[in-house]
Amino acid sequence: MGNISFMLYGAYGFTGELIAEAAVRRGHTPLLASRSLEKLAPIAERLNLEMVVLELEDRDRLHNALKAVDLILNAAGPFVHTAMPIIQACLETGTSYLDVSGEVMVMEQIFALDQQAQEAGIAIIPGVGFNVLASDCLALYAAEQIENPTQLEIATLWATGEMSPGTTRTMIEGFPSGTLARRAGQLVRINARKGRRQQRFLDGVHPILPVSIGDLVTAYRSTRIPNITTYTAFNDQIADFYGLAQPILSRLFRFEFFRRMASDRVKNDIQLSEAHLRERKPSQVWVSVRNEKGAQYQAWLETIDSYLFTAEAAVLSVEKVLAQSLTGVLSPAEAFSADVVMEIPGSRRVDQVENVQATE
Ligand SMILES: NC(=O)c1ccc[n+]([C@@H]2O[C@H](COP(=O)([O-])OP(=O)(O)OC[C@H]3O[C@@H](n4cnc5c(N)ncnc54)[C@H](OP(=O)(O)O)[C@@H]3O)[C@@H](O)[C@H]2O)c1
Repeated sequence: MGNISFMLYGAYGFTGELIAEAAVRRGHTPLLASRSLEKLAPIAERLNLEMVVLELEDRDRLHNALKAVDLILNAAGPFVHTAMPIIQACLETGTSYLDVSGEVMVMEQIFALDQQAQEAGIAIIPGVGFNVLASDCLALYAAEQIENPTQLEIATLWATGEMSPGTTRTMIEGFPSGTLARRAGQLVRINARKGRRQQRFLDGVHPILPVSIGDLVTAYRSTRIPNITTYTAFNDQIADFYGLAQPILSRLFRFEFFRRMASDRVKNDIQLSEAHLRERKPSQVWVSVRNEKGAQYQAWLETIDSYLFTAEAAVLSVEKVLAQSLTGVLSPAEAFSADVVMEIPGSRRVDQVENVQATE
C-alpha cells in the first residue's frame, strides 16, 4: 500500500475533503475511504492518493482495511450512524480512532468504552475538530486558573456563513435529545429559551443560547467540573427562531420519518472554496469557570474559520497520536494538553477583555 500514514473515512464530505487537503499539505499520504466510488475517485485522483470504497455494514471489508493502518480519522457524520460501527471494528483490529464529532450522546457512548480501548491498546479520541478540540483546550486552560472550579460555561461563535450539509443533518439528528446541560455530574434537559442572554466575545456582544455540544462530555472528562452549560452564538433572528422552534422540532424529530425527510431536503451542493473560508471572520470560544468561593476566571480564544480549523486540528491530532503511545478514550485536551490549540496557526488566547459586560 505504499507509505500510507492513516485512513480518512468520509473523505469526500465537505470537511473530509478539507482534511485530505490539509493532510497532503503537511506531507501525509492518507488512504481515502468512503462509500461511493463515484464521489471518492475524483478526489483521490486530484490529490494523488490511494483509496478504498467501504460500506460500514460490510464488516469483513472494514476489518481488512483497518488492519492495514494504525489509525482511522472519521469525518463521516452524523456520527450517530458511523462512530460505533467503526470503533467496534477498531477495538477488534487494534486501530486507533479519531473523529471530528461533537455529538453529546455519541460521545457518552464512546467514553463508556475506555476500559476496552485500554485493553485493546488503542487511543480513541472523539472531537478533534473545532468543537471540541478548541473549546476543550480553553476549558482546561481556564479550569487550571482557579481552585476547585464547580461551574463551567462554554460558548462558541462559528464564523458567519453557510453551515455544511453534514452539520445541518447532525443538528437534525440531535433535536430529539432536547437541550442538554450537565448538573452534579449528570446530563439533564434544560429549557434553551430561558438560557438566552448576551455574551461578550472578542469582537463585541452576541446573543447566545444553550445548545447541546460535545463539551458536555469531553470538558467533564478534561476538567472534572460537575456543572457545565454549553452555548452557541446566533444572530438575533436565528436565536428567536431557534428558541421558539427547538421544543417543536425536538418532538417532531423523535420520529425517524421526519428526521429523514428533513435530512433529505438539506442541499448537498454547498461550494465554499478554501479562499472564501479564509476570508471569513474568525471563529471564537468563550469560557467561564467559577468556584464555591465566588472566584471566576474567563478566557477567550480566536481561531481561523471553524471548518479550516477542524481540518488543521484533525491532522495535527493524527500526527500526535501516531507519534505517542496513547491508550484509552481521551478528550483532546487530556490527550494533547490545553496548549495544543496554540499550535494551530491563527489561534489567539485572551485572558482580559476591556469593558467585559456583566453576563448575569
Ligand atoms: N466538531 C466540529 O467542529 C465539526 C466541524 C466540521 C464538521 N463536523 C461534523 O462532521 C460531519 C461531516 O460534516 P461535513 O461538513 O463534511 O458534511 P458532508 O459534506 O455532508 O459530508 C458527510 C460525509 O459523511 C458521509 N456519511 C454520512 N453518513 C454516512 C454513513 N452512514 N456511512 C458512510 N458514510 C456516511 C457522507 O457520505 P455520502 O455522501 O456517501 O452520504 C459524506 O462523505 C458532520 O457531522 C459535522 O457536524 C464537525
